[in-house]
This record gives sequence, C-alpha cells and structure tokens, in this order.
Amino acid sequence: MSELDLAFVRSQFPAFSEPSLAGFAHFENAGGSYACGQVVEQLHRYYRQTKLQPYYGFEPSQTAGRLMDEARSRMAAWLNVATDEVQFGPSTSQNTYVVAQALRRYLEPGDEIVVTNQDHEANIGVWRNLEADGMVIREWRVDPQTAELDPAELDNLLNERTRVVAFTHCSNIVGSIHPVREWTDKIHAVGAIAIVDGVSYAGHGLPDIAALGADIYLLSLYKVYGPHLGVMAMRKELNQKMPNQGHFFNSGHITDRFTPAGPDHAQIAAVNGVIDYFDLVYTHHFAGTDADPAQKARAVSSLFRQAEQANMQTLLDFLSNRPGIRLIGSSTTESRAPTIAFTHDNRQPQEITAELAAQKIGAGNGNCYAYRLMQALDIPAAQGVIRLSFVHYTSSDELERLIQVLDGVL
Ligand SMILES: Cc1ncc(COP(=O)(O)O)c(C=O)c1O
Repeated sequence: MSELDLAFVRSQFPAFSEPSLAGFAHFENAGGSYACGQVVEQLHRYYRQTKLQPYYGFEPSQTAGRLMDEARSRMAAWLNVATDEVQFGPSTSQNTYVVAQALRRYLEPGDEIVVTNQDHEANIGVWRNLEADGMVIREWRVDPQTAELDPAELDNLLNERTRVVAFTHCSNIVGSIHPVREWTDKIHAVGAIAIVDGVSYAGHGLPDIAALGADIYLLSLYKVYGPHLGVMAMRKELNQKMPNQGHFFNSGHITDRFTPAGPDHAQIAAVNGVIDYFDLVYTHHFAGTDADPAQKARAVSSLFRQAEQANMQTLLDFLSNRPGIRLIGSSTTESRAPTIAFTHDNRQPQEITAELAAQKIGAGNGNCYAYRLMQALDIPAAQGVIRLSFVHYTSSDELERLIQVLDGVL
C-alpha cells in the first residue's frame, strides 16, 4: 500500500473520538500535535505500574529503567544516530540553553557564530548571548520579500573563524524545507559545527540525521504526537570535546553531560509510544517488507508527505488568490511543509483567529517566537501572523471546511 490510510491513522489518535473535541478542526499542529494513543497508553501504564525511581535492582524499578533505555535506543535507531548520541531534555529551548553554556567555555573570543533571522528564538538568542563572552555574531538574513534564506549569503558569511552555524531545517512560519546536507557540507568545509533546529520538521517525518550531517539536531516530541520532551542528537566526538554541563561525577556518562535537569522518567518511557506509532504506520502500509528503522522512517515520511501535499496545495491556492492576503513563503508545495502563515492587509491576526475559533477551527496567531523574522518582514511582532498548520492526519474534509470558513471570514 503506497497511500496513507487516513481512517487507520486517525483511529490511532484518541482526540478524534473524544466527545469534547467533536467538530473541532485542529490547524495549529506546528504549536503542538495531538498525542497518539500509544503515547497516552504508555504514560498511563508508567504512572500505574512503574512510577518510582528507575534503575534500582528491584521490580518495578528495573522495568522503568528498561523502558527508558529502550526509548533512547529506539528513537536513536529511527533518527539514524547511535543510542548514546540521543539526549532527552525538557524542551528544545532548554537543550539549546545548555549547549550555549558549554560553548561559552568551548569557544574563544573572536570565534564567529552564524545565526539566522528566520529561526525560532530558541535557536538564535542563546547563541547571540555569547557575544558578551567575546564571540562574534554574524547574521544570515532572509530576503525581506520572499522570507527565504539564500545559500549564497551563507557562502559570504563562512570563513576560517566560523565555529558554529545555527539554522532551521524548516521555519515555523515560512515552511520551506531546507537542503540541510548541502549546508552542513559547506559548514564542515570551514571546520564549523552545524546546529540544526528540526522542531518544525519532525512532525512531518523523522529525519535521517546521519544523512543530514548535523552535529547537533533538535526536535520537540510534543509536536511529533508524543510527550512534552526535547530530543537532542549530538555527535559523540562533539559531546566528548565540550565541557560537561551535568554533575561532575557524571562527566563520564555521555547521555548525562548535557542534561543537567533531572529527566522526566515517564515522558522518556512514553517515547516508546511515538516509535510504536511510527512502527505501526509502517507495518500497516508495508506489511511483509523488512526494513531497518532508518528505512522505515524514510518510508513513513514519504507517506506523510504525500498525504499532506494535496491539502497543502488547495490551501496555498486559496490564500494566494485571495485579495488582501500576504502569504509568507512559497505558494507551491515543493520543499515546503504545511505550516502556512499569512497576514491580512487591514485586519488583525487575533481578530481573524477569534472568528475561526468561534467556528471550531484552531489556528495560531502572533509571532510564534520567530520575533526577528517578523522584524525582517516588517510585520509588527506584537501582532504577528495567522498560522494554519496541519499534518498527515488532517483530512480533506477538515481542509474543505477550513476553506469554507476562511471564505466567509477573510
Ligand atoms: C521551530 C521551533 N524551534 C524551536 C522551538 C522551541 O521548542 P520548545 O518549545 O521545545 O522549547 C519551537 C517551538 O514552538 C519551534 O517551533
């Protein structure tokens, strides 16, 4: 089977049969997706059966620890990195904050850091703050008309002093999916580290981080059908070179070095639910085909992408042809995620999303923490944009209803 079985995937999400959500259409998935049933069940089971300190010699502590270990190794396999390259932290913002503390001592004054003005602030501000320690910040700016990053600009910014480049795999406003491998190759050619924010990408399919060549890759599972948890994949050699940010006696524990906050055990165990879901989607569509987890991830991603594309084109066409609407980013689906932001020439985003909410459509409004992007696009940051974002489980019926409602509201 090569087409997404929509009824099947929707049956895996309790939200779609939850009476209190009947009639509600979720178009703010870039903020937070629904959780799949496997995750809800894992959390429930963890709290019922194994909610105590893991890793002691008694049951059920052993089971709790085993679930946490499995979560790490399974997630790593799906992301195509080694098990001890996966760190679990409370969120991506927390993970980048911790890495910045390590870089503070790892880098030297005069070293250059490239940041964009397209990213979510979680992948900008912490690096920019290193300016106070003598690091030199270079900004890779979007084109104010297209909102896109031009790779030729990266070439101009890279030099022998560049030590770090932080950019997004997919902006949470513009939606373009970047050619990460091309960029990491350029970054590595000058000996710098590539830090890639995959938060807005991962809900559309788990990435192959080895193929992308990122030194640090970040995602947040609450946007990937899972618990509120940040995943940070960090290359082992980099982990070993940067100063430990955990307790001193744990400096030899590779997965403790950049997670000073005690991890949420239940949520880590619930990562198994995310992988169970992806695995089930794979088995349902490709029964009898054996594959390793990275191959499964690729197959599931292309199923998701195919399902998203038809809906995406319909919405892009509607918005691009609507007078008074400024669509941010590309109007075609090529290398684009269904995270679609726009402004209205004479109405406030908040007003529009309130009207959508009154008709049971959940849409985002504001700057979505891409504050600097708003400034670059000359959009008042306090006001921001209207954001409609959907994923593979969104139906064409929901999309049609959205467009019908937008037709009346805009
Ligand atoms: C693209 C992007 N990067 C980073 C973040 C921050 O993630 P977290 O909420 O896990 O800190 C978000 C959150 O919305 C995001 O959309």
